[in-house]
Amino acid sequence: MAQVREQWATRAGFVLAAAGSAVGLGNIWRYPYVAYENGGGAFLIPYFFALLTAGVPILLLEYSMGHRYRGSGPLSYRRMSQKWEWLGWWQAMLAFLISTYYIVILAWAFSYTYFSIGTQWGENTEGFFNHQYLGVTDTFWNFGGLQWKVVLPLAILWGFIYLVMRRGAHGGIERLNRILIPVLIVMIILITIRGLTLEGAVDGLNVLLTPDFSALADYQVWIAAYGQVFFSLSIGFATMMTYASYLPKNSDLSNSGLIAALGNSGFEFMVALGIFGALGYLAAQSGTGVNEVVAGGIGLAFVVFPEIINQFPGLNSLFGFLFFGSLVFSGLTSIVSLLEPGIAAIRDKFDISRKFAVNAVIGGSALVSLLYATKGGINYLDLIDHFVNTYGLLIGAVAMTLFVGWFANRLNTLQNHINQVSDVRIGGWWVASLKVITPVALAAMLAANIITDYQ
Ligand code: PFF
Repeated sequence: MAQVREQWATRAGFVLAAAGSAVGLGNIWRYPYVAYENGGGAFLIPYFFALLTAGVPILLLEYSMGHRYRGSGPLSYRRMSQKWEWLGWWQAMLAFLISTYYIVILAWAFSYTYFSIGTQWGENTEGFFNHQYLGVTDTFWNFGGLQWKVVLPLAILWGFIYLVMRRGAHGGIERLNRILIPVLIVMIILITIRGLTLEGAVDGLNVLLTPDFSALADYQVWIAAYGQVFFSLSIGFATMMTYASYLPKNSDLSNSGLIAALGNSGFEFMVALGIFGALGYLAAQSGTGVNEVVAGGIGLAFVVFPEIINQFPGLNSLFGFLFFGSLVFSGLTSIVSLLEPGIAAIRDKFDISRKFAVNAVIGGSALVSLLYATKGGINYLDLIDHFVNTYGLLIGAVAMTLFVGWFANRLNTLQNHINQVSDVRIGGWWVASLKVITPVALAAMLAANIITDYQ
């Protein structure tokens, strides 16, 4: 017998869970360096373009599909056409794959929250983090094997996540978000205010915001913008579809979507201001330019930030604790949303208990996550990340727009559905965008990625 579908307790619970999914490591750890590397202030142009031509339309598409067809990814597609169930599995698999390495970065942040008490990383923050030099001992996470420094944070986090997920959408995910999101907002406001009031902050802001318009001619910048919008808004992974399927029948969709999208971008900009303010401070302290202290990628959060905290004018443990703690909190509310699409998908398919599905999905992800901690494991992490974000996601998103817009031709039905339940009515722009602009833009991105990889 089919089980009764889980439900959020309130609409606010859903909006919080959706925002909690969106706001994550992507906002705090990823956005600042992506914006910096791709035109600074000018990055806002491709960013908003991507948000309007793909981000918001696909977000609403996922909401409306999950809500109307009341299913996880595979079930929602199947209810439109049996032949397209695979696409739901594809998207849920991508979410699962991300969860396997997202947890690793979360575990670094968790360890660093602890290390920030008394700045345990010492003077040489780079040497401390240096995970890529195999065989070097006494580093924080040396990938030389499964040692307690690696396994312990992973085990604690997985244990906690397991307990949350076992309690279900309402008792687990919704409750987690209700508690963590308000705390997270306060933490981020404190970090931003402190970052912006440091000496030299203005120089950091200048570097983040000064537009380099020549970047707009580079198609890589546009790819980066689309990539950032998809990852940050959690779209293209059947996540929002799954979350929307837990909404009661008559729940607003469009207004909730706009709140989640605006909240996510607002959060992203605010954090970037605070972080670049702090980078300006570090540059002033070390007597160099901001460009010299900004390290791209992973290093920004785990090498440069500890250095800033070392030089902080008082209460540095507290600032470190706030920064890394905010990474952990935001990451927790996101990782549950990376696991839920898989859990819901196998429950919908095989009609099994939540307990069984949670054991299978979390057990699987936890096992794979250990792989990245073995010797040379960081290479697998890069490989999977590249596959998911460069190909897997775009293939899924192009297929999704083509299927719903053309093959199954359901956009008008879904538009009516949204307008029946929502406060804010959406117009024909939504259908037009998803039918033409979004697939064309995404297919161009996919082609550009293939050319870049194989030229
Ligand atoms: N949006 C999350 C972040 O910015 O960190 C990551 C994420 C969560 C991506 C859920 C995809 C997803 F389905």
